[in-house]
Amino acid sequence: MSKEHRILTGITTTGVPHLGNLVGAVLPAIKASEQKNTASFLFLADYHSLIKNSDSELRHKSSFDIAACWLACGLDPKKVIFYRQSDIPHIFELAWILSCLASKGLLNRAHAYKSAKSDNEAKKTEDIDKGINMGLFNYPVLMAADILMFKANSVPVGEDQKQHIEMTRDIALKFNHHYGDILTPPEALIDEHTGVLPGIDGRKMSKSYNNTIPLFTEEEELRKVIMKIKTNSLEPGERKDSSDCNIFNIYKAISVKEKAIGLQKLYEEGIAWGDAKKVLFEELNSFLRPYRDEYNKIIKDRSFVEKTLIEGSEKALSISGPIINEVRQAIGIKGF
Ligand code: TRP
Repeated sequence: MSKEHRILTGITTTGVPHLGNLVGAVLPAIKASEQKNTASFLFLADYHSLIKNSDSELRHKSSFDIAACWLACGLDPKKVIFYRQSDIPHIFELAWILSCLASKGLLNRAHAYKSAKSDNEAKKTEDIDKGINMGLFNYPVLMAADILMFKANSVPVGEDQKQHIEMTRDIALKFNHHYGDILTPPEALIDEHTGVLPGIDGRKMSKSYNNTIPLFTEEEELRKVIMKIKTNSLEPGERKDSSDCNIFNIYKAISVKEKAIGLQKLYEEGIAWGDAKKVLFEELNSFLRPYRDEYNKIIKDRSFVEKTLIEGSEKALSISGPIINEVRQAIGIKGF
């Protein structure tokens, strides 16, 4: 087991899975899991969801929806170790150990924390850390534990998560420096084409911007979302630039190259925005249809999803167990 290449990625269980998750994380991870000599780890980062959300029901629902999403999108639990973070207590033990190595200065520079602080700055709050919990601050450490717990070599993530993988490397090297060569510094695996998928307002598609395209809504709902995509005010007949267009960039991420070139031509010929949206809707709808059908089947059988995750956690624990023991030995937390 130890020589194979390990790929690991997680998805935070907040909100409904969206197109950005699908093209940025789920599909690349599933594709990567099909390579030979690779062990794939995919997990629901349910404890990460505590950072921003205190709604238990929402967390529970979202965990289920996301698990069902991955299964619907083609994840094969026989090929992939698929588990809930919360089923692997070793991760949280490792997170503490790592937090005693990570320097506070490193975490001060984390994007999530810095952006929360700059929101406060903009609001001119008296305390710059107002409303910021330690979970948010420590979030990169928990993420490092998720990754290092399984000695993962590569981590497919969106561009926005690159910093966290660099921090994970930093922390792993520091651990190894102090305690011996045990942890594996991982590499980020960023798909250049789909790394940052724009949302309907042109910013990165993200739950936090409320600009996502949901995956499993019915056709009419999907059409409405597509029609809301922001564009500039160029008239029909005017030549349009595809390179910085949300509609085009979403289209490109879900279709084959030839089709994208075809749409690019239509842009040059001055396609009306309404028509470009129709082209995107048709493409997206047929892209999503098989996933949607499978999803609708899976959500009717909750015990199948539960059983799959329990089996996954058993496999994951059989790997994390020996590693946490190795770590404990190395740090001198061991029997007398
Ligand atoms: N922080 C990641 C995100 O928001 C989710 C995540 C948690 C993750 N732990 C991870 C991704 C470990 C990769 C590896 O997208």
